Amino acid sequence: MSLTCVAKLSELREGRGRVVSVGDKTIALFRRGDRVHAIDNTCPHVNGPLGEGDLEGDWVACPWHKWRFDITTGLCERHPSVSVACYPVAIDGDEISLEL
Ligand code: FES
Repeated sequence: MSLTCVAKLSELREGRGRVVSVGDKTIALFRRGDRVHAIDNTCPHVNGPLGEGDLEGDWVACPWHKWRFDITTGLCERHPSVSVACYPVAIDGDEISLEL
C-alpha cells in the first residue's frame, strides 16, 4: 500500500464528483465539507459513471438507473449484497492522496 496524490482539495466542489485515473483504476472523489471519500467510478450494475452522479448527503445516485451508493462504505442501498470499492483518503493541506 502506498499513498498516491490524485487531486487538490481546492479543486473539488461540494456535491459534485471528480473522476481521477490511477494506474488501471478509475476513481470517483466526493467532497463533503472537509471530508473526501473515494469509491470506484464504475457502477456494478452495468458500468455507469458514479462520479457523474448527484450527491445527496452521503449517497451518490448512479446517473444511468439511479442505484444509490453510500460514499462512506460503498454499499448499494437497493441491493445490500452489492458494493463498490472504497479507498482510504489522506488530506494534507490542499493535497488529496489515496491509499491504493
Ligand atoms: S449502471 Fe448504475 S444503476 Fe445501472
